[in-house]
Amino acid sequence: MRKKLLLGNWKMNKTVGEAKEFASQTAELVKFAKANKVLVGVAPTYLCLETVKKKAKGMIVAAQNCHFEDKGAFTGEVSIPMLKDLGIKWCIIGHSERRTYDNETNEKCNKKIAKLVANDMVPVYCVGETLEQYEANDTKKVVKTQVEEGLANLPVDSVKNIVVAYEPVWAIGTGKNASEAIAEDICGFIRKTIRKMYGAKAANKVLVLYGGSVKPENIKAYLSQPNVDGALVGGASLKIDSYEAMLHNLVK
Ligand code: 13P
Repeated sequence: MRKKLLLGNWKMNKTVGEAKEFASQTAELVKFAKANKVLVGVAPTYLCLETVKKKAKGMIVAAQNCHFEDKGAFTGEVSIPMLKDLGIKWCIIGHSERRTYDNETNEKCNKKIAKLVANDMVPVYCVGETLEQYEANDTKKVVKTQVEEGLANLPVDSVKNIVVAYEPVWAIGTGKNASEAIAEDICGFIRKTIRKMYGAKAANKVLVLYGGSVKPENIKAYLSQPNVDGALVGGASLKIDSYEAMLHNLVK
C-alpha cells in the first residue's frame, strides 16, 4: 500500500521568523499524521530550510530546487551536497514556475533528478500542461514527454522512491482546480508511462500527487482516487490552520 503525502510548497513566501512560527506549531499535526500513516511536509525557501528542519520534527522538509553540479561558478545556485549537509533529503524539481521563468527544461530536470537519486534523495518531479495545451487536447502528449525525458536513464532500483506531481499550469494559484476525474486520469497515465519505462514494481510504488488550487474543501475528493497518492499545495499550505484542515479532511 502506498502512503498518502501532503506536501506544502511555500514558493517565495515567509521570512525565517514566519517559517519558524509555522514550524513550531506542527507537533500535534505530525502526531496525527503518523497515527494515520500520512506523510506530511513543506518546501520552504533555502533560507528557511535549517530552521524548519530543526523545529518541525517528523515533517519532511524539501528544497524547491537544486543545481546538478556539486559546486562551482553558478551564482545564486545551491547544490545537493549543501542540502544534504542540512539534512534535507527531498527536493522539488521542474515546478512550472521554474519551467516558465527560469528556463527549466526536461533535460535539465533529468540531470537534477539523476543526481538526487544517486544521493539517495527524493525528487518531487512536477509535470503538467498549460491552458493552451489543455484546450488543444494535448495534455497526455505533453505529460508523456515530460515524464519520459525528465525520468530518462535512471537506475531502475531508484525509481520507486521518486515522487511525481501532476500540476496543470492552468490550475495553479487560479482557484480553478482540475476535476478529480482529470486528476485521476492523468495521475494514472503518469503511472502507466513509468510502468512502460521501468516496470510495474517501480510504477506501483511511485507516489503520484495532484497539485493546483488544492484546499481543505476539495482535498478529500482527490485523495479518494486510486492513482492520486497525495497533494502538492501552494497557497493553502501557508497557514497552519488550513494545512491542518487539509490533513484532517484527507484522512476522514
Ligand atoms: P496552489 O495550491 O496555490 O494553486 O499552487 C499549487 C502549486 O504550484 C504547488 O506546487
